[in-house]
Amino acid sequence: MLLLTFADYLPQARRLAAQLACPCLEIGVHPFPDGESLVTLPTALPEHVLICRSLNQPNNKLIELLLSAKTARDLGAKRLSLIAPYLCYMRQDTANHPGEAVSQRIIGEVLAGLFDDVITVDPHLHRISALNQAIPLKNAISLTAANEIADFLKRQLDNAVLLGPDSESEQWVAGIAGKTGFHYAIAAKQRLGDTQVEITLPGCNFHGRIVVIVDDVASTGRTLAQAAVLLKRQGAKAVHAAITHALFCGNAEQQLRQAGVEHLWSTDSISHASACIRLDKLLANACRSLPDVC
Ligand code: R5P
Repeated sequence: MLLLTFADYLPQARRLAAQLACPCLEIGVHPFPDGESLVTLPTALPEHVLICRSLNQPNNKLIELLLSAKTARDLGAKRLSLIAPYLCYMRQDTANHPGEAVSQRIIGEVLAGLFDDVITVDPHLHRISALNQAIPLKNAISLTAANEIADFLKRQLDNAVLLGPDSESEQWVAGIAGKTGFHYAIAAKQRLGDTQVEITLPGCNFHGRIVVIVDDVASTGRTLAQAAVLLKRQGAKAVHAAITHALFCGNAEQQLRQAGVEHLWSTDSISHASACIRLDKLLANACRSLPDVC
């Protein structure tokens, strides 16, 4: 077995390869002046090749993944597994307006055509319950970082209230609450636009409490920021945030600091200064549990 990755994901991929006791090599990418990518793989490939890279900033990465997967097959790989801790294009699972692309289904079918296995963490699935409804593969495996986040929070805090900013977050927040023993509550959210959300806190008393807002993704940061502002207004003693995927687009971090978020903690699914919760053991266990893998 060989693990391949790209320059931007080397640290995480090396940690995963160390867990799997397999070599980790880099796929070379030369960007041409016109924006195309020349992708170069090692030429000697074993039968089973894993490609590890999160698919944030997805448009270029998807093309590089397509070129890599097809080339790996040409070079003799019989089994190809994608380890994409952050999986892109999973939110648009329906056409909300006539003519809109249902990206989840389209990208899911592309990935299923390229790979034998897809492993990801906390994908944003709204209306479907299983990843293989989006990626039609027997081995479309959706993991959760809830245990890793819970273990981390337990090491940081003796007690806290966990707040999920919207109803969808309950699946993660409840799991983390169960493992930490912390209480949790769920707010209501209405999205008014890409950078506009309206949050209503649940009717519990946050005064004097340490609150950790828990979510799967922070993109513009507006969800976390709005929730933090409301919590501070209610007299929360400290507000922290723990998320799986730190996309942090534009001025997201600035928004969070201004809103009074003290600590930002995220998993290393995406390389970011807040990425202090490692996923290598979780991913390695999933790789080992694939049929015919070490
Ligand atoms: C959406 O429902 C997700 O769980 C996140 O709450 C959302 O993606 C966060 O987006 P933003 O950071 O742009 O508010």
